[in-house]
Amino acid sequence: MHYFTYKDNNLYCEDVKVGDIVEKFGSPCYVYSYRTLIEHFRKLKSAFSAVKPLICYSVKANSNLAICKALVNEGAGLDVVSGGELYRALKIKTNPKKIVFAGVGKTDKEIRGAIKAGILFFNVESEAEMQRLHEISIRLRRSINVCLRVNPEVDPHTHRYIKTAKKESKFGLSFSAARFILINKVRFFNVHIKGLHIHIGSQITEARPYIQAIKKVSTFIKEMNSAGVKLEYLNIGGGMGINYKNEKAQTPKVFAKAIVPLLKKTGLKIILEPGRFIVGSAGILVSRVTFVKETGSKNFLILDSGMNDLIRPSLYEAYHEIVALHKRPKSRQKKYDIVGPICESGDFLAKDRLMPQIRSGEYLAIMCSGAYGFSMSSNYNSRPRATEVLVKGAGFFLVRARESYLDLIKKEKFPWFL
Ligand code: LLP
Repeated sequence: MHYFTYKDNNLYCEDVKVGDIVEKFGSPCYVYSYRTLIEHFRKLKSAFSAVKPLICYSVKANSNLAICKALVNEGAGLDVVSGGELYRALKIKTNPKKIVFAGVGKTDKEIRGAIKAGILFFNVESEAEMQRLHEISIRLRRSINVCLRVNPEVDPHTHRYIKTAKKESKFGLSFSAARFILINKVRFFNVHIKGLHIHIGSQITEARPYIQAIKKVSTFIKEMNSAGVKLEYLNIGGGMGINYKNEKAQTPKVFAKAIVPLLKKTGLKIILEPGRFIVGSAGILVSRVTFVKETGSKNFLILDSGMNDLIRPSLYEAYHEIVALHKRPKSRQKKYDIVGPICESGDFLAKDRLMPQIRSGEYLAIMCSGAYGFSMSSNYNSRPRATEVLVKGAGFFLVRARESYLDLIKKEKFPWFL
């Protein structure tokens, strides 16, 4: 579901012609639909209303301040994974009691910052981290709350790079390691273990792996209860998939119907950490065709954006639908490799894509680029990063200006011998 539609053969975002946005702000340009993002948040909230979850939007999916603020204003909390994301969360005045902090490698500085900010929970991923949290919290004279991230060892049937709950994964604690910490929690007396956290992977299109994971965790919770360890929260992470092509990702309603009964049975307060589901289809990357290059064996559309702007196709061989901003219904179909200007063979946005014939100078929209698009972009090949625009109704607003060449070099310095 999203609000990018054609009217008179021109692509619109809500009530704005996308062509008007590029005319004003240039290309490449990320365009986000406010309405899409808010509706996704509300859908999730209403689907899970029976357990009244705290929904902590996963900032890594799209960390633009305006996007985060739109969701925080709707009542969302935030899931952060670094000092930088925490800084963003605090900048937009997120209630710290709605911030959770995950990640396998939190540094002392990041831990200190989060303790001082008074966040709701750290999601702890190792015994070593537990020890470090304990020591730092004592030094700061502040007791802290945590959830233990357990690895339920289920297969979420998604790309191997975004599975996080396999036995050999770097994330989380095995049940036996979590048991050991819980049974010996007096050792970490300044750290209150309030609950458990799981995150089994991303772009998961079916409820089954969640059911398996929640069942395993529920058994563990029961065992801990009988051992006298009381828990209050269960954070089931993010991971809900979207339709990039024809995945038939389950809707929040179907998803909730399958897992809410299990969540209720735990009797715990529930936290969700969705990223992609909220923002994925709410964004597109608009790019101009610099050249059409036809070699004997291939037709290439060479764009003014590439893997530095959207790395998902190169990194995960991810599929993104690509459409022209201006549709010419009668033009004949042609097969293209749609590539960027970067000096890497892996720099592509689509391979062997059948689409209506395209001319140079035309603009294309790479759909469903709102999640892990800009947030994974880089300056590789010294390319300034794209501009970001948020559309609301008939209005559009610059939410990140295009980087300049000066932005690229402003932190660099010459040593004295140069
Ligand atoms: N919670 C934790 C602990 C996570 O690690 C993640 C994502 C999320 C929540 C949000 O997951 P989501 O709802 O967005 O699936 N770059 C990859 C996705 C990496 C996901 C990393 N962790 C991609 O472009 O597909």
